[in-house]
Amino acid sequence: MPDKVLVTRRIPAAGLRLLEAEGFDLTVFSEEVPGRTELLEAARGASGVLSTVTERIDAGFMDAAGDNLKVVANMAVGYDNVDVTAARERGIVVTNTPGVLTETTADVAFMLMLAAARRLGEGERMLRSGKWRYWGPELLTGPDVWGKTLGIIGMGRIGEAVARRARGFEMDILYTSRSRKERVERKTGARRVHLDELLRESDFISIHTPLTTETRHLIGEPELQKMKPTAVLVNTSRGPVVDEAALADALAELLIFAAGLDVYEEEPAVHPKLLQLENVVLAPHIGSASIETRSKMAELAAENLRSVLRGERPANPVNL
Ligand code: NAP
Ligand code: GLV
Repeated sequence: MPDKVLVTRRIPAAGLRLLEAEGFDLTVFSEEVPGRTELLEAARGASGVLSTVTERIDAGFMDAAGDNLKVVANMAVGYDNVDVTAARERGIVVTNTPGVLTETTADVAFMLMLAAARRLGEGERMLRSGKWRYWGPELLTGPDVWGKTLGIIGMGRIGEAVARRARGFEMDILYTSRSRKERVERKTGARRVHLDELLRESDFISIHTPLTTETRHLIGEPELQKMKPTAVLVNTSRGPVVDEAALADALAELLIFAAGLDVYEEEPAVHPKLLQLENVVLAPHIGSASIETRSKMAELAAENLRSVLRGERPANPVNL
């Protein structure tokens, strides 16, 4: 009997081809996010699940799948949607897709930094609504990005890729991380500081930590109060790392200049106050959404799943 494998969303063809070639008994959901009941029903008896960030893979899901479940291969580098402890207790391997999305996500962080500083969203809205009347000496001016100080919170793979881009913009780089990154320091001139110093000294702040119990609301009202009034905050990590209500208040009161966001606390909902503000650029969680990268992520997730079901060690386990 072939192993039963559930793919929770339609994924790029490269990933599906690999699973088909292995001869799995495949159930592939559509582009839509499946409802919880539908998902639990489809998971019953599965040996492998290829999930995405929109599915909550918790103890309830694992129990609904049953004793056959050996692997949850998340098509993302972040895996806060998977209860890794519950998986470990049940002997289920969890894998993710690090590395293949690093440069693509760093591009989006930089794009948001530039767009928020140079007021691209505001300008586009003005133009499209027919309100752009002429070139103006002070129309839509914002701070330069080049030559400024960038604070990176979480100097991992994506943080480092953002730091490399910042070098091209002649920026000084400060960072926080749980551990020191001497190689990155040599390569980019980045300097490790305490979060307080980073918040006070940076012109731009970009967040690249995973979502964990330590990083939930890492940036809230007290941290926003410490930032420069000219600061621009960018978040491409996970929504709950920033207190969204506190950020909306800070932007409305011009406590900081602007923000660029790709992720939200309750996706796809966005804090209603943010939707009303001109000084925030809002992207719909597209950090890794290049054609090439999504294809690589699907392929890597499928390879990880296949390895576990073949009895091999997967390339990217997070709980072995
Ligand atoms: P990574 O290489 O594991 O880097 C994460 C970094 O965060 C590490 O350097 C880690 O420090 C640091 N860190 C962890 N806890 C911290 C804390 N409490 N304070 C300060 N730094 C802390 O991961 P990555 O590949 O760069 O990805 C980072 C995150 O980006 C993912 O977890 C995911 O949530 C998010 N992401 C979002 C998108 C998107 O579409 N928007 C795309 C890809 C990834 P140490 O190295 O010292 O442990
Ligand atoms: C996307 O958000 C990821 O974590 O890969």
